[in-house]
Order: sequence, then structure tokens, then C-alpha cells
Amino acid sequence: MYAIETDQISKTYASGLVALKDVTIQVKQGEVFCLLGQNGAGKSTLINILSTFFKATTGTVKLFGTPLTDQTIMALRSQVGTVSQQISVDTHLSLKENMLFQAALYDIPKEKAGQQLTELIDRFNLTDYLNYPVVSFSGGIKRRLDIALALMSSPKVLFLDEPTVGMDVQSRQAMWQMIQQIKSELMTTIFLTTHYLEEAEQLSDTICIMKDGRIITQDSQSNLKGYVSDQLIEFTFPTPTRAINSFEHFKQHFGKKVTLNARTIRLSKPERDLDYYLNWLLQEAIEVSGINRVSSTLEDVFLRLITEEGAEGDENQGHFKTDH
Ligand SMILES: Nc1ncnc2c1ncn2[C@@H]1O[C@H](COP(=O)(O)OP(=O)(O)OP(=O)(O)O)[C@@H](O)[C@H]1O
Ligand SMILES: [Mg+2]
Repeated sequence: MYAIETDQISKTYASGLVALKDVTIQVKQGEVFCLLGQNGAGKSTLINILSTFFKATTGTVKLFGTPLTDQTIMALRSQVGTVSQQISVDTHLSLKENMLFQAALYDIPKEKAGQQLTELIDRFNLTDYLNYPVVSFSGGIKRRLDIALALMSSPKVLFLDEPTVGMDVQSRQAMWQMIQQIKSELMTTIFLTTHYLEEAEQLSDTICIMKDGRIITQDSQSNLKGYVSDQLIEFTFPTPTRAINSFEHFKQHFGKKVTLNARTIRLSKPERDLDYYLNWLLQEAIEVSGINRVSSTLEDVFLRLITEEGAEGDENQGHFKTDH
């Protein structure tokens, strides 16, 4: 049984805007499922539907095997925790007050709420933040408090919509640790969206890429990287300026297969061996400080899939499998 399963859900907003088209996904129990996509791809819309707050226009959603209907919605909602893109913790109250309020909303008996509060505070080292108004803490801490709050009702699945947006490196790492703990210690299924590919790489088991309301692909992280593995050659230049100056030359010769990034130029799908490219550099009198075969990062895969889909028009499911 999957934690979440959807069959061809679509969403048309009252304005007529079609935000989701035939979205079919499966999220396994206990995994971190990461949804990637550019601004406006439909990620938050999908989260709002899966977390029971918006209704899909067509299609079906199952949570832990139970179809989401008017009859099941309240029972299913109690199994779901949601941390939306905006901070939802009441900043004028302390964390403790927020957590007890949340417990009351979910009808959790007082004694149980007290235990749950102590356990969460200990587990995530939040003691320092317990008794002061949340407004006095930094954005990064507020976000972690928001998540602790969502865990008060012991949800079976936790939705995190861009949990680390705008955070500094340290806060982001603290958040990653918290997410890993939620997965491994509380066994909660986590559905995450992010624009940081490094974050998806660090945390997720399954990655799903969306574009313009459609799923382009859903697969395990290792399979995804395999789509373009060993298909890159990286030319490193002594300075970024030298890389920029040579880029036009590369483009003329290799076309769209080259990308520029700081001091490096990358060539995807190379058709010859390294010697060929070394000779070409010599012939063209282009000086590099290194040339290597590199394995692809999630960023390479993401950019390629997003660009390829764009180039091929409004194709439905892309050419990679979307089910397992
Ligand atoms: N309540 C609404 N009414 C009408 N259109 C909406 C509404 N909410 C979102 N949209 C539109 O639906 C599309 C998908 O938006 P959504 O917020 O789901 O994208 P997203 O992938 O979460 O983007 P971001 O990365 O910017 O958060 C966008 O074109 C957006 O403008
Ligand atoms: Mg969003």
C-alpha cells in the first residue's frame, strides 16, 4: 500500500487557469518524496490537494489506501501534517502555547499533549525556544518550530512546502537534520518541495519533476541520475573570464550541447573520446586547466529534462516511466 496515490488528477482554478493536468504519482510509506519544478509548475496546488485542503477538479486521491471523499476527508485530514510556504505558527504565542493550542485543535487529551510536547522538544533540541514568543526568533528557527507544531498530531505523512527557502547554510543544515530525524525516528512519510537541488539530493528517496502542471518523471534518485550518467565532459578554465571568452567557440562547434558554469564548460552526450577533444582544443588554441569525464548531478538531470520537455512541446508524460 502506498502512503499517497493519485490517478490522473487535474485542477482548474475558478479563474480558468489549469494548474494540474493528469497528475499520477505514487509515494511509498516512510520515504522522502521530493517534488521539483519551476515557479508556477503546480507544486503547492498539488500539496494543497493531497493534504485535503483543495479539491481536485477531476481524478482520484488515495491516502494510505483510503480514497479521499466527502465522507473520509475529516478522518484523513487528521493523519496529515502540513507546513505551508508561509509560516503558520502564531508568532505572538510561545512555542509551548502554540503546541498546546494545536493539540486542542486535534482533540488530543491534555496529558498526551504534554508528553508529545516534551518528546518533540527533546528530540529536536528546541528547549531554548519553548517559553518565549515565537516572534523573537529568526526565520530559520520559526520554520523548525512550524514543523514541530505540525508533528503534534503525530501525522502519518508530513507535507513540507519549500521548508528551507531563504535560509542561511547553517539553518538549512539544521533543517535537513530535522527532516532526516523525522524520517528515521518517527517513520513519517515526507512529501517535500524545494528549489534547491542540493537539498533534494541530500534528502530524497524518490524525485518527481513537474512542468506546467504535468509530471515529467518520477523515479528513484539513483535511476534519475542514470538518465544522463557518464555523458558529460567538463572543461575547466584558469579563470571564469577565459571560460566566457571560449564559450562562443564551443557553441559554434558543439551547438546546444554545451553549458557554461563559472570556470567550467560542460559538454553533454559526447560522441568521441577524450583524446579527440584534447586535439580539438590544441587545434583551436584553446587553453584549459583540466578536462574530465564527470557524472551528472541532479541539477544536470533537472535542467535537461525541463529543457527537453520544453523543446518537444506540450507532450503528456515525457519519455520516462512514471510508475513502478
Ligand atoms: N488560488 C489560485 N487561483 C488561481 N490561480 C492560482 C491559485 N493558486 C495558484 N494559482 C496558479 O496556479 C499555477 C500553479 O501555482 P502553484 O502555486 O501551485 O505553483 P508552484 O509550483 O507552487 O510555484 P512556486 O514555486 O512559485 O511556489 C500558477 O500559474 C499560479 O499562478
Ligand atoms: Mg509553491
